[in-house]
Amino acid sequence: LNYNVNKERRYIIEVLFNGLRRLEYRGYDSAGISIDDSSSSQQDHINLSPLVFRQEGNIDSLVKSVYEEVAETELNLEASFVVHAGIAHTRWATHGEPSPRNSHPQSSGVDNEFLVVHNGVVTNFEVLKETLVRHGFTFESETDTEVIPKLAKYVFDKTKEGEGYQDVPFSQIVIEVMRHLEGAYALVFKSRHYPNELIACKRGSPLLLGVKDLTTNVNNKASSHNTEFPTKNIQSKEFFFSSDAHAIVEHTKKYLVIEDGEVVHLKEGAVSILKFDYDKAKNNVGLTRPASVQRALSVLEMEVEQINKGSYEHYMQKEIHEQPESLRTTMRGRLIRGGFCKAKSVLLGGLKDHLKTIRRSRRIVCIGCGTSYNAALAARPLLEELSGIPVTLEIASDLLDRQGPIYREDTAVFVSQSGETADTLHALQYALDNGALCVGITNTVGSAIARNTHCGIHINAGCEIGVASTKAYTSQIVVMAMLALAVGDDTISSQLRREAIIDGLFDLPNKVKEVLKLDQEMKDLAEQLMAEQSLLVFGRGYNFATALEGALKVKEVALTHSEGILAGEMKHGPLALVDENLSIFVIATHDACFRLVLFSKQQSVIQQLHARKGRLIVMCSKGESSLVCPGVSVRVIEVPQVEDCLQPVINIIPLQLLAYHLTVLRGLNVDQPRNLAKSVTTQ
Ligand code: G6P
Repeated sequence: LNYNVNKERRYIIEVLFNGLRRLEYRGYDSAGISIDDSSSSQQDHINLSPLVFRQEGNIDSLVKSVYEEVAETELNLEASFVVHAGIAHTRWATHGEPSPRNSHPQSSGVDNEFLVVHNGVVTNFEVLKETLVRHGFTFESETDTEVIPKLAKYVFDKTKEGEGYQDVPFSQIVIEVMRHLEGAYALVFKSRHYPNELIACKRGSPLLLGVKDLTTNVNNKASSHNTEFPTKNIQSKEFFFSSDAHAIVEHTKKYLVIEDGEVVHLKEGAVSILKFDYDKAKNNVGLTRPASVQRALSVLEMEVEQINKGSYEHYMQKEIHEQPESLRTTMRGRLIRGGFCKAKSVLLGGLKDHLKTIRRSRRIVCIGCGTSYNAALAARPLLEELSGIPVTLEIASDLLDRQGPIYREDTAVFVSQSGETADTLHALQYALDNGALCVGITNTVGSAIARNTHCGIHINAGCEIGVASTKAYTSQIVVMAMLALAVGDDTISSQLRREAIIDGLFDLPNKVKEVLKLDQEMKDLAEQLMAEQSLLVFGRGYNFATALEGALKVKEVALTHSEGILAGEMKHGPLALVDENLSIFVIATHDACFRLVLFSKQQSVIQQLHARKGRLIVMCSKGESSLVCPGVSVRVIEVPQVEDCLQPVINIIPLQLLAYHLTVLRGLNVDQPRNLAKSVTTQ
């Protein structure tokens, strides 16, 4: 936050803490903040080291430590500044355990001459560290980040020897630092030598600049859209750097997505943006002079209410129950009802210029991680069926590990809720390098995947805050079903099938509403399963994905071992585990589609599991409990039947509810499960 009107410092600290709270959902294990020391007047300000507070654990422990320390040192919290710059960070440990010394801001040493908060990983930190140690630096933390402020100090001292530091802009120091860094980063720098200034820059990791005009109504969309930025005369503004729009939306909707290689310099209430060519600069000797650039500000399409819990106790609970509405928003304006002489169809604006190329592809490769991969798995049968093109699936990290073949004739579909997952982003770069047509399916407008793909479809499920993805998953399946419908739109033979699916999509939110009524039943089941060590989930066909995703939910939040199993593989291993102590969830909804009859196969699976005394819970279509397992007494969960390819949207919901209730009953953190992050921006 860079602040240029007289206000109390408490405000700045509170804004930073609040921002950190807004980012809690992403997952973190420690946090830190740096503000200027105000125990002296503005004139002395330049000589004071910024104060740094760092804590392991949650934001509240950081808040407590700051206010306790403030009380002890009699620091004047109400002090006023003409301009003020503070930085704060939540950390998810990559190098080094969660601890205050490993938290950010990381420092150049005593006096905090340079301070840095960092998202990402510096891959060449060991080499840099060795060099800096040779130059007399001592390291305090185990982080890769610590090399950055130390390198800044090294560059600063060297420059001072040569030119006299008064003449060297802060940005020049940062650019020289960037020249030596490899890996991914979003960085914000603060320095004792440059009071009232902040520098942010990035390569790979996401970073936004929010601009709040204190004199006009900033939430006015019409007036703020596409303003050339920076403007010449910037007065009375607040600026916010953040890796995530959630931390800035309550202050402003005017924002800028900072691009790779851009260096954003806030100085005394004004902004300048410099463009830094990483590759060119790397080969240059000495400091590089970057070009100054103008960018257009955009308007955030996000409301503060969306990121509050409303009347729900947890975000995950809210997001599960929001699904009828989130699915409606996903489909809004994209389904055409048809009518006289006009077929029902789908309209995907982001794809219209590329559908022909997709239809001509030799293969469609869907790429994602975690839940997003599972969504692609759920949609694959339909995409294959309607496109007639072979569809393969890739877990992003595995594709990269193998350097699996991707061709110019391929269409690569990248599925990601956040649009920022590092593995998926690297796989995207790999597919682009190999010449494939790249399609993005993300829930985050302006995210790296949305920006770097050739075309795409926004999921439009609304903000998802719970670490365990729920509503984004069901919307991803629906988006991929619409993709299949659009690609197959030129095939007359499948028209009836497509129309039936479109009807099914129109009715889906109502069916989701119906299945959500199982909430209490799933809570009762959670009570029954509370003490279980393990839960197997069996599914096949469209619902193999449901088995994997259901098991992932239980694993992620309830911290219970759970495995999704392809029912067709039962006899090839999993059956060995089955006895009277094992709880097994079998998905056996009635999905006799045009080509496959899977229901009867699941009936046989149930019989075999029952014969081994497994403790069965069976999910079946409404009214089919006596049909699904005749003569077998098991707990049955009945769900509404929909078009077979949409059944995974319905079937996952009882499992989401089960995972949620299991977690709450066990007293665990539903929205921020241990060790997990919402958006994994490091590889
Ligand atoms: C993390 C999250 C998962 C998510 C996965 C992929 O692991 O904890 O919930 O499914 O990343 O994220 P993406 O944003 O690419 O869908």
